[in-house]
Amino acid sequence: MCGIVGYVGKKKALPILLEGIKNLEYRGYDSAGLAIIESSGIFAEKAVGRVSNLESRVKNTSSHGSLGIIHSRWATHGSPTEVNAHPHTDCKSRFFLVHNGIIENYGALKNALISNGHVFVSETDTEVLAHLIEEASHDGRVVLEDAVCKTLLRVKGTYGLAIIDAKDPGKLIAARNFSPLIVGVGRGEYFVASDASAILRHTRRVIYLNDGEVAVLTPKSRRIFNLQKKSVRHHSEKIEWRTEAVQKGGFPHFMLKEIFEEPDALLNSIRGRIDMKRGIAVLGGLTGIKEKLTNIRRIIISGMGTAYLAGLLGKYIIEELTDIPVEAELASEFRHRKYIFQKNEAAVFISQSGETADTLAALQKAKKHELLTLGVVNVVGSTIARETDAGVYQHIGPEVSVASTKAFLSQVIILTLFAIALGRERKTVSAKDARKIFLEMKKLPKAIQSILNMNEAIKEIAKKYAPYRNFLYLGRGYNLPAAHEGALKLKEISYVHAEGMAAGEMKHGPIAMIDEQFPTIFIAPKDSVYEKNISNIKEIKARNKSPTM
Ligand code: M6R
Repeated sequence: MCGIVGYVGKKKALPILLEGIKNLEYRGYDSAGLAIIESSGIFAEKAVGRVSNLESRVKNTSSHGSLGIIHSRWATHGSPTEVNAHPHTDCKSRFFLVHNGIIENYGALKNALISNGHVFVSETDTEVLAHLIEEASHDGRVVLEDAVCKTLLRVKGTYGLAIIDAKDPGKLIAARNFSPLIVGVGRGEYFVASDASAILRHTRRVIYLNDGEVAVLTPKSRRIFNLQKKSVRHHSEKIEWRTEAVQKGGFPHFMLKEIFEEPDALLNSIRGRIDMKRGIAVLGGLTGIKEKLTNIRRIIISGMGTAYLAGLLGKYIIEELTDIPVEAELASEFRHRKYIFQKNEAAVFISQSGETADTLAALQKAKKHELLTLGVVNVVGSTIARETDAGVYQHIGPEVSVASTKAFLSQVIILTLFAIALGRERKTVSAKDARKIFLEMKKLPKAIQSILNMNEAIKEIAKKYAPYRNFLYLGRGYNLPAAHEGALKLKEISYVHAEGMAAGEMKHGPIAMIDEQFPTIFIAPKDSVYEKNISNIKEIKARNKSPTM
């Protein structure tokens, strides 16, 4: 996933940019590049591979410029080469920009630009933006921000952009459309970043740009407007995360740190939301829509990846505790497919980042059809948090590791609280039953901690199974989404093929695949389907000798 950092102020930009982009390294990337305006002109450098490669290239340069942009690229259009790395520039190397997102109509735009005499050097979609700005600026007769607005009106797609003009050395432009981008507000300085963790060391005050907005930043001023140049008022908001939260804190990597934060994450998601005495779940973010929730006849829960799987689990829980039918939909499907909307329907969007493009698009669709929209979001002030009618924050601190771990647990617990809140309102859950669930919930952090304490034993199991290249995860009921999530995590982290499946489905074909080289992981706690699971395990063992766990 690409990262963006920009700086305009009085300090030297180079160390700020490098440090900022290093804080985004966890997101994965394959090349990096920067551009800084110096008194002698533009200083630009790129390198394939780690940010440290870029750093070695620039370490002996005496950059004094205090306006610059940097980018880490995850290749989408064109291979990971220096030429394709950002920043990209125009024919005269005047405008430099970094971009996250995809320009969908770049092919047509590129052809038109080529026929106007523009020469392209990269295979990227991003480069068209630099040439379009060049064209719109009419050799600098049109100010940069106007040229940017004109350009963006021609573009179809998603973008988080930071742009500088070699001939306008005090101005940093930022623009966003469906790609995360924030403006950091310092004293006599501004920052632009695709993720707050890049700039937290410098400022906690940020402005969340909305889609279709452009910010013009100088050391002393900021102006924000839409593409039609209509001014938009924004107040800065304070990010409460501690700096240590985005550091590894002694763990070898962020994923492990975040797994070990799970007990705390759960406590934070539950804190203040359980009223034991009255047997109710207190979700402050939903107070304003209480009336509307009473009339809800169907709920759709939507998200992507892990967030979707938490939603799938949420469907099971809500249906179990209330009389409301629930659909769980991948946002990428929901946004494009025909969905038969109903009266009195609510849509819940789950997203750790609050910025996932498909989930945002799904939210827009729900809003268009006038559904009541709710968010379960971690990042305070993120787009989904702002665009939904109401919501519940996860309060789990930043999830730096790209792999969702603590976020999944917290999403599930919040959906459970939501189900209890609905169930109590509709009288499908008694105060006594709610208290029972609350008591179990309260035990969870300790229970998770006791599993984390088995770290060494778990490592041994991992070593035993490391040589295998295929895994099957099976579960029933609540454990089916958990099985899918297990398989997703294994694929994502180990690059090993894994499939999650309903245990009951296994004998309807998939069992043919498994043998002694294909371990099966069964999630089979002692619940109402335990016996069924045991039969499945026996079947697998007997017929295919799959190592089971
Ligand atoms: O930020 P979001 O929760 O919207 O992200 C959605 C998915 O991309 C995400 O859950 C992804 O599947 C996980 N990071 C995988 O571990």
